[in-house]
Amino acid sequence: MSEPLVLSRQEGGVLYLTINRESKLNALNRAVIEQLRDAFAKAGHHSDTRCVVLTGAGDRAFAAGADIGEIRDLTKEEVAAFVEAGHELMNAIENLGKPVIAAINGYALGGGCELALACTLRIASSNARIGLPEVTLGLIPGYGGTQRLSRLAGRGRALHMMLTGQAVTAETALQWGLLNEVVEAGELMNAAGELAEQLAASAPLAMKAIIAAVHQGADLALARSLDLERQYFERVCHSADMREGTAAFLEKRKPVFKGN
Ligand code: COA
Repeated sequence: MSEPLVLSRQEGGVLYLTINRESKLNALNRAVIEQLRDAFAKAGHHSDTRCVVLTGAGDRAFAAGADIGEIRDLTKEEVAAFVEAGHELMNAIENLGKPVIAAINGYALGGGCELALACTLRIASSNARIGLPEVTLGLIPGYGGTQRLSRLAGRGRALHMMLTGQAVTAETALQWGLLNEVVEAGELMNAAGELAEQLAASAPLAMKAIIAAVHQGADLALARSLDLERQYFERVCHSADMREGTAAFLEKRKPVFKGN
């Protein structure tokens, strides 16, 4: 049997997923997209998984884009399904209800950049390069990049990146708010693991509500988004985890959150 294209390893409350197509710089072909979709569907259902870390095999790439050979060969009839499969995966990650950390270990280009943008948080090694070079292929980003990049980095920077197709360094991406943290290459998985463990011990329902409120509220007028926040607050306020968290604070001990 051939090697899986997505490797999966659960350690405590953290699920580590690795795109395993190193010889092609982890380019996202159909099979990788499918296996990622399945892996995230399982992660969503598995109550032991409290946080996911996503990375790429090797030390050169997180993912160097959608598979250019596959794109070249798309028939007119196949284009919609190609885009849909990508959107479905990115939306599933963004709406997983659990934090997903992209550990960006090199190139995150095109679909690889879009994959990282769909994750909740992004940590990169200092040698990472991030960009949407589709224009250089006569294309545009098709897995959400035109929208998610603009929302994170601002329209001016996003337009510059997309129109020139030039990748930015990890340092620049950090300054622009595309990344949460940059670390030395050898430290990437330790840093991502440490953050993931911290989140895995945190309150699952509260984290889910925060992620949902931020994403759902982003496109609403302020009054409606504040109303949304109020609804989530009320929901979380009735949870056993809230009682545990507040009790632990008052009793000067560490809380044990169970996700209910
Ligand atoms: N799709 C398919 N294959 C890809 C790929 C992609 N997006 N990105 C890299 N690969 C393959 C290369 O074809 C090559 O395969 P081969 O060894 O069978 O020839 C292998 O991965 C290594 O890439 P290579 O280009 O030789 O490495 P490099 O160090 O010279 O350059 C990059 C690295 C990232 C600059 C270059 O691979 C690149 O520009 N990739 C495409 C990025 C892109 O346009 N992404 C958006 C796609 S929509």
